[in-house]
Amino acid sequence: MNNCMDIKIGDIHQPELLDFKRIGSSTLGYISIAEKLPFEIKRVYWTYYAPHEVIRGHHAHKKLSQVIFAVSGTIKFELENIQRVQKSFILDRPEMGLYIPKLHWRTMEFSHNAVLLCLASEQYDENDYIRGYDEFVSLNDR
Ligand code: TYD
Repeated sequence: MNNCMDIKIGDIHQPELLDFKRIGSSTLGYISIAEKLPFEIKRVYWTYYAPHEVIRGHHAHKKLSQVIFAVSGTIKFELENIQRVQKSFILDRPEMGLYIPKLHWRTMEFSHNAVLLCLASEQYDENDYIRGYDEFVSLNDR
């Protein structure tokens, strides 16, 4: 796991768990801070009330990078790059972020109480999505 303070812009091109540490105590509660990220934040969104049996995602992005948190609950991620290398991640602590670079096919499974918070490198653009798996894996042939 990478300490987020050590990351320099453009340094990481692989999905990676980032440890944002926490300030506080079990008696008071905690604060985590996203000060240094691998990109400038252009958009923030959050996803919630996803039924446990639903698999979300099923897409990749051409340009977008993200740092994603489970600020509540547990979210399981299956990621795949265009060389078809697969990696699984579980977000189950609010201070832990998952960096997802561009060109990663993802699926996500939420626990019933999960809230996903996404810090995104780009504004929303449907043209940035690759929503067909065959199109995604064909990028490796180009
Ligand atoms: P999508 O990114 O496909 O969700 P997930 O990966 O969690 O399954 O987005 C779901 C819908 O919401 C889709 O119709 C696009 C829309 N949307 C926006 O309009 N703006 C946004 O910033 C995001 C993230 C999604």
